[in-house]
Amino acid sequence: MEHPIGIFDSGVGGTSIWKEIHRLLPHEDTLYLADSKNAPYGEKSMEAIVQLSIKNTELLLNKNCKAIVVACNTATTNAIAYLRKNYKVPFIGIEPAIKPAALRTKTGKVGILATKGTLSSSLFHNTAKLHTAGITVLEQEGTGLVSLIESGKLQSKEMETLLRQYLTPMLAEDIDCLVLGCTHYPYLVPKLKELLPHHVQIIDSGEAVARQTKNVLEKEGILRTTTTALGKHQFYSNTNVEVLDGLLGKGNYAVDYLNF
Ligand code: DGL
Repeated sequence: MEHPIGIFDSGVGGTSIWKEIHRLLPHEDTLYLADSKNAPYGEKSMEAIVQLSIKNTELLLNKNCKAIVVACNTATTNAIAYLRKNYKVPFIGIEPAIKPAALRTKTGKVGILATKGTLSSSLFHNTAKLHTAGITVLEQEGTGLVSLIESGKLQSKEMETLLRQYLTPMLAEDIDCLVLGCTHYPYLVPKLKELLPHHVQIIDSGEAVARQTKNVLEKEGILRTTTTALGKHQFYSNTNVEVLDGLLGKGNYAVDYLNF
């Protein structure tokens, strides 16, 4: 099927997921919405997150997307059940990679850094409970991190101060796995590697979401069959596009402002 895969996030973070999808499915067209005007979603109520997810979904459907990747843990954990119930198109969501972390930990202590919206959702709690019997999960809200990433302040002093503040209590408890439960956070990996001891593994869900996207498209019979040309990619932001552009780097795609 020649229609694009739609992807949305509260902002620029979901591009970390787009990169994995693009790597695995290079012939698919994609259309990405960065709802940066409304970031961070993680500090909003469930009702507000559902409304924003509806707005993004309807825009992607109006642009003929054949499937939608909710490239945001906060929107997935708060809104994907509603979206699946109310729209016919297949949805692929992202949740914190608690299960792989629980399988890998040797100390039996796993840290998770995610937004308040994700950590307070019942979907996250149910998944975590299912996979972490006998394991201690240390939850940490990453308040402020998304806003700094949205303003392009990856390397700032404020970022380092916040990360140190969030990592210290988890390290004191001897975690050996840190789950990145927000799609913005993979952009913090270089900084996290400076701050974490070598034995702490950083785990995110990006690759798993790309594999799941491929599986769903195959199962639905909507995987692109023409493999002679590479896919085309359109990114839209509803604030200025510089940060989005910067995180994507050079490539064959369009990055534009759109009022949504
Ligand atoms: N990328 C979103 C996530 O994965 C960030 C949420 C936010 O905007 O607070 O949770």
